[in-house]
Amino acid sequence: GFEVHLARSGMTVTVPPGRSILEVVREVVPQIPSSCEEGICGTCETAVLEGAPDHRDQIMSAVERASNATMMICVGRALSDRLVLDL
Ligand code: FES
Repeated sequence: GFEVHLARSGMTVTVPPGRSILEVVREVVPQIPSSCEEGICGTCETAVLEGAPDHRDQIMSAVERASNATMMICVGRALSDRLVLDL
């Protein structure tokens, strides 16, 4: 698992194997928009402030992935121990 700190909410959650960032974050920030939850629509795109996302979506370009500026939190995970998201 890995830690996700929510910069605007001031909370930190732990995402275990087998659960998505979206699912875990929703327990503390219920109003996060999503649609496909499969990494294909872009609805859950979230700004990444710190850390290295593991992009697992189907829609971001190589340039967008490399910038690590945003990620799709329905499928994306972390390569670092901790991510800081703009949520
Ligand atoms: Fe569609 Fe995340 S909800 S990409």
